[in-house]
Amino acid sequence: MSQPNQLIDTFGRRHTSLRVSVTDRCNVRCFYCMPHESIQFLPRPEILSFEEISRVTRVFAGLGINRIRITGGEPLVRKQLPELIRQLKQIESIAEIAMTTNGILLAGLATQLRQCGLDRLNVSLDSLDAEQFKQITRRDELEQVLSGIQAAQSAGFENIRINAVAVRGLIDSQVIPLVQFCLEQRLELRFIEFMPLNSTGQWASNDVLSGAEIRNIIESNFGKLKAVDRHNPSQPASDFEFANPSNRIHGRIGFINSVTEPFCEACDRLRLTADGKIRNCLFSHEEWDVRDLMRSGASDRDIELQIIECVKNKKAAHGIGTSEFQKPARAMYQIGG
Ligand code: 5AD
Ligand code: SF4
Repeated sequence: MSQPNQLIDTFGRRHTSLRVSVTDRCNVRCFYCMPHESIQFLPRPEILSFEEISRVTRVFAGLGINRIRITGGEPLVRKQLPELIRQLKQIESIAEIAMTTNGILLAGLATQLRQCGLDRLNVSLDSLDAEQFKQITRRDELEQVLSGIQAAQSAGFENIRINAVAVRGLIDSQVIPLVQFCLEQRLELRFIEFMPLNSTGQWASNDVLSGAEIRNIIESNFGKLKAVDRHNPSQPASDFEFANPSNRIHGRIGFINSVTEPFCEACDRLRLTADGKIRNCLFSHEEWDVRDLMRSGASDRDIELQIIECVKNKKAAHGIGTSEFQKPARAMYQIGG
């Protein structure tokens, strides 16, 4: 019997999903996430140990969290990551552990991750053109990502998702190649609208290539898309399939329209940063510490109370596009994607 969910906020949203960032470090430098230079990574002692992550996750699970997503920075640069998955997998009420990775180190780790119990993978890939990939990530690693995806498929991961950040003037030319690639490789493709989360502050609403625009590009090449029913309403993506069965195109394409069609009212997520802060939103300006709490001898009940306080303070929506909106002080790599 699972316990009643204690993570219901003042807007009635029930929280069941926790995103756990295991490091702020990364082996690439995507411009929409990382600044160009003078990146200040967290000193090692400030990062939660696996034991600390497992303890906090266990407390979250006791309150009603049943799905975990491992994020970074790039989670696979954290040493011994499969061991953490193995530890988290032992928490009984956790039904699914997923991970978002850039795929660069996946080729060497896919089998082990699978054996340790990782259920699902999202791989970030914005461009199949090596030059453009380099322009976006400031590193020349496209081949490694592609072999990482292949290795994950061979290791038995199913329904692997490809995430592409939709930036106008950059991704437009990649929409068709990405759709083709994902259809051929039987991968689910998702376009995520570019959000104001890079610490250099480069973002204007016009830089967002909207989900609606991408859909138009796809439909003019491949024919109509039809909406697929969501079985989980708090899934941020609207999923589509190709409508015309006679063209023999099978595959699913999702749009995470976080800017043009915010889905905050159905949000079921909480976040744990690599340095042990709990956040109730990507865009929140407040965080609740659990690291110093644990290191000063707090009980599990103290951690619970901190989590409950964080949930109680969750705002209705992120407010991108409103006059009150202010970019969070931390960039994506410091929060966890
Ligand atoms: N807007 C949208 N998505 C972003 N990501 C990183 N920064 C941004 C941003 N500014 C995505 C990455 C990856 C995940 C970790 O978050 O592409 O899929
Ligand atoms: Fe690294 Fe992901 Fe940020 Fe790109 S988006 S720099 S892969 S953490």
